[in-house]
Amino acid sequence: MAQATHHFPKSFLWGTATAGYQVEGNSTDADFWDWEQQPGAVLNGDRSGLACDWWGGRWSEDFDRAAADGHTALRLSVEWSRIEPTPGLWDEDALDHYRQMVAGLRQRGLTPMVTLHHFASPRWLVERKCWETGEVVSLFERYARKVSAALGQHVDLWCTINEPNVFMYRGWAEGVFPPRKKDFGLALRVAANVLRAHAAAYHALHAVQPQAQVGLPIHLRPTLPAHPGFGPDEWAAQAQFNLFSALFTDAIATGKMRRIAAPALAVPAAKGTQDFIALQYYTTDVVRFDLTNPGELFGRRTFPPGAEVDSSGFYASYPAGFFQALKWAHHYRLPIYVTENGIGGEADDLRQRFLLTHVRQLWRAVNFNWDVRGYFHWSLVDNFEWERGWSHRFGLYALDTATQVRTPRPSALLYSQIAKTSTLSSALVAQYAPSLSAAMFPG
Ligand code: BGC
Repeated sequence: MAQATHHFPKSFLWGTATAGYQVEGNSTDADFWDWEQQPGAVLNGDRSGLACDWWGGRWSEDFDRAAADGHTALRLSVEWSRIEPTPGLWDEDALDHYRQMVAGLRQRGLTPMVTLHHFASPRWLVERKCWETGEVVSLFERYARKVSAALGQHVDLWCTINEPNVFMYRGWAEGVFPPRKKDFGLALRVAANVLRAHAAAYHALHAVQPQAQVGLPIHLRPTLPAHPGFGPDEWAAQAQFNLFSALFTDAIATGKMRRIAAPALAVPAAKGTQDFIALQYYTTDVVRFDLTNPGELFGRRTFPPGAEVDSSGFYASYPAGFFQALKWAHHYRLPIYVTENGIGGEADDLRQRFLLTHVRQLWRAVNFNWDVRGYFHWSLVDNFEWERGWSHRFGLYALDTATQVRTPRPSALLYSQIAKTSTLSSALVAQYAPSLSAAMFPG
């Protein structure tokens, strides 16, 4: 077997990503708080509760963990519902709490990346249907100004709205997230407002902080036609990709947003409003044309044959898809940050294989001189996984929600070795996943 070490650039950022609602606990002014109380909303009736108790201060010990493990960055989100619990009234204590957190990252040598909106919205914003009416655009702009003025001293890397494609699809088309609507036309109208809100925030962030670097994190799911060359499968795979994965990034590149059975919608204000591609990759879909599934653009999705599926059945590990996703990101000719990538499950061996095989694909991209600047693993500690509650766990560290005790999974040590050396080596593969050695490092 060959022995080799893959090197990443010295400045490459190694971090983890998370979201306010999922780790802070007791986000009682957010729409998701009400949603959690609805019967059937969350698997097993789980509740976020204290979550990882970051609002109670445990962010500090978790940042210590990240620093001790050699991480050099951390992505978190601030909660709009804490900062502006009532329209126009700012909670300065909440802003101060976040200021301490991002300063705490800097003190530990970690570069902060801050997301302004990660799925959860203030209750009042949703009660007023602001995403649907478009009122959100000016409100989000005002909020972005406020947050960047408060945190900009410590933060240069910003994400506006996390996974706008997931946000609009799950909330307004699939009806899983609040406000639980199932109306595809409305979902696409919301998408246009999300894009406008992003664009307004982009300009606001740059106005307050000219050196800001701003991205719009996209949940990218490559689609493979079930039967390559078979027209209907090819069509359905492409339609799903265009209207889900590529929708927002293409709109930013062209100033026009695709619609269904209608000419593209001109949103000129959005053109050019990102400084980097924020890529979030979990899994890949194989798509077969199916007339009975109009809700998913006549495509029926399965996972690639042979791909290992995680314990929840939600994601399958398919490293080749990660490379495809990176290639897609590269064609926009902007710097790239992988702002999320991970796999769920209590059993850690799949996570170890996932990490090794995905970091390998990342290195391939870096080795082609594509401008990939950092990687944020999802996530540092198990956190509240939306409608899958506590049943689907993504942490490098396991969390006991009853005691708040964190226990490192072997992946924490593996990732730490990658981050500390900024390399991926055959020795690491032999140590953590010997079954992969022959395929990854053939003689
Ligand atoms: C979201 C996270 C979520 C993760 C794992 C991403 O789509 O941004 O909030 O926890 O997937 O499912």
